[in-house]
Amino acid sequence: MEDFLNDVLTGLRDEPRWLPCKYLYDEKGSELFEAICETDDYYVTRADLALHELCVDEISQLSGKQTHLIEFGSGAGTKTERLLSSLDSPRAYSPIEISPTALEGSVKALRERFPDLTIQPIEADYTQDIDASKIKLDPPANNRLVYFPGSTIGNFTHSEARHFLKRMGKIAGDNGAILIGVDLIKPVDILLRAYDDAQGITAQFNKNILLRLQTELDAQLDLDAFKHEARFNASLSRVEMQLVAIKETRIHLGDDCFKFMPGESIHTESSHKYSIEGFQALALAAGLEPVHHWIDPEGLFSMHYLKPTAA
Ligand code: AVI
Repeated sequence: MEDFLNDVLTGLRDEPRWLPCKYLYDEKGSELFEAICETDDYYVTRADLALHELCVDEISQLSGKQTHLIEFGSGAGTKTERLLSSLDSPRAYSPIEISPTALEGSVKALRERFPDLTIQPIEADYTQDIDASKIKLDPPANNRLVYFPGSTIGNFTHSEARHFLKRMGKIAGDNGAILIGVDLIKPVDILLRAYDDAQGITAQFNKNILLRLQTELDAQLDLDAFKHEARFNASLSRVEMQLVAIKETRIHLGDDCFKFMPGESIHTESSHKYSIEGFQALALAAGLEPVHHWIDPEGLFSMHYLKPTAA
């Protein structure tokens, strides 16, 4: 709670104002995100799934027998199931997930689906360093595949993404590989629709962070004084979610009072979009060699198979 308060104060005292996107995902926010994934406008999930159908067999060939699959996030969904069922005699599966409930749910579902597979759940924050002993198998696996589906890498700045990829490379090790989903640059109208869907679910998702300030931090604020907006920042190639004041308003938080004039906003999330070459350049800068990539039939989404380069 103290971290939440300090992070909010840091972001609101800054210019321009911002809030860390991780606070969008409380229980309600995570449910809203799931609902976004079901909308017609948010093409990402649909394209990611379609791409998995197309490329899992090739991934299995690249990865070889007895792969130790290590997933960043809990993989209860169709994508993990699809990948696991196509791998050649997988050695083990280790999902790394901070939420114990999400981890439990996914492990239960996958144990039922793959009763003979060793599943070794790791309750940890995958954005932080992970205790290597929790991942290690006995005897050690000789090929690891570090899997990060979805397009969460897009929510990191380029510099954060480079550091994150480097850490993934370390976990994969010399003989391992990385499989990561990356959303592609596309016409702005498609992007803006995806981040401001016609049903208004993304708007609710974004405004949920203000609700959290009210209910958890006791902030005094007028929820109706802010509206959700998705903007494309062309110079940084990213969609930004903003909460924009539609009238003069104030947020009172502890001893602080933050005044907003109409049009002033709080930046809550960025979703960076990449070209294939742009992402490959980022991977190379993180010490990862692009081995293969796939693009879904509609040209919306990509998956990259990368290998750590010899040091
Ligand atoms: C979780 N992440 C990949 C989503 C994205 O597309 O950036 C979060 C999201 N924000 C609004 N809609 C979806």
